[in-house]
Amino acid sequence: MTLDPQSIRKDFPALAAEAIFFDSPGGTQVPNRVVERISRYLTTTNANHGGAFVTSRASDEVVAEARRAMADFLNAPSPAEIVFGPNMTTLTLSLSRALARTLNPGDEIVVTHLDHDANIAPWLLVAEDRGCTVHWLDFDVEDCTLRMDQLETMLSKRTRLVAVGYASNAVGTINPVAQIVERAHQAGALVYVDAVQYAPHGPIDVQALDCDFLVVSAYKFFGPHVGALYGKREHLERLRAYKVRPAPEEPPEKFETGTQNFEGIAGVLGALEYLAELGRRSGGEHAERYAADFEGRRLRLKQAMAAIRSYEMDLSGALLDALEAVPGLRVYGLTERSKLDRRVPTVSFRMEGWHPRQLAEALAEAGIYVWDGNYYALAVTERLGVEASGGMVRVGLAHYNTREEVRRLGEVLQALARRRPG
Ligand SMILES: Cc1ncc(COP(=O)(O)O)c(C=O)c1O
Repeated sequence: MTLDPQSIRKDFPALAAEAIFFDSPGGTQVPNRVVERISRYLTTTNANHGGAFVTSRASDEVVAEARRAMADFLNAPSPAEIVFGPNMTTLTLSLSRALARTLNPGDEIVVTHLDHDANIAPWLLVAEDRGCTVHWLDFDVEDCTLRMDQLETMLSKRTRLVAVGYASNAVGTINPVAQIVERAHQAGALVYVDAVQYAPHGPIDVQALDCDFLVVSAYKFFGPHVGALYGKREHLERLRAYKVRPAPEEPPEKFETGTQNFEGIAGVLGALEYLAELGRRSGGEHAERYAADFEGRRLRLKQAMAAIRSYEMDLSGALLDALEAVPGLRVYGLTERSKLDRRVPTVSFRMEGWHPRQLAEALAEAGIYVWDGNYYALAVTERLGVEASGGMVRVGLAHYNTREEVRRLGEVLQALARRRPG
């Protein structure tokens, strides 16, 4: 373990509050660097895009640097393959419109029961508009892992798109994305990866995955509310964007119609600078692992995410220990300690006698912030049979959380398990 959570926490002003932030799958807190970048943007370079004057040029340079940093974060071959937008959902709906134009009646799309609805509903709408058939890849309710055996039977020459999440926002499962991409490509299908919930927890490499598209949201990995989409250059060039006429015809700008959230994009750069610095400081074993393939900021970002991953795997084990010690509490998802590398530290559960909302409220009273409900992973809560009864309670850890906070959660849950809500 190479991360020191106490020194990390000093960088996040919001963490000075007397609260335990276990709400990170809904959105993480931001480090000082993000606040500084946004503030600097608004005070010194606030201008619209493409002007001849100094602030507009400086603003464009901030966006260009953020694009380069995001390409480094995802290991995209080129910054021209990075599209910024308001959030993952809007980017996905917009790209799905462009992709829909290439589909025909009888074409097939694969979605999964394990995904957030933002990587399901856009494709259901495409299928409805274009007369395509949708196949639903199921998951095993015992451990919430995808039924890979079913994928084999679903793929055919008619499959045009597979939409899959990298990690579940509900139960934390990491999906075998590289394997899915390989199989989908053999069938001739494109793959659209929702990496929103993996991005805060581990290194992403779009070239190693060979995926066609991959989307993230910066507010889930210590940045502001801005989304980003990676698309292979050939697809971004080929697809016709829904855009206004004066906007550029070239990617990535052709997919960025309307005025972007420039101060937010400056904040995204701040988040990536924060992570690169964390990577530089954590160095060591992770540097050796990646040094042969990466250099500069790409290497530092890899190091940061690898260090975060190994710190969080340890914390995941502690969280599962704490939860499983509570009488009447049932965890949904992977709990086998030997398989912690197949999940992110996002754990959902229910507790006997407690409605998830009541439990979330009782935890909030104790200063512990968690989510309850379906978190828009409607297909998951429906499949687990908990949608009608309030969904689940979700605890999500980030690299700024500590063992001490996990221990406190365990204590509070133990006390709550002894009393039923009034
Ligand atoms: C896995 C996953 N995908 C997509 C989204 C939607 O992201 P956004 O809020 O950026 O549209 C979320 C948000 O919680 C998510 O967890």
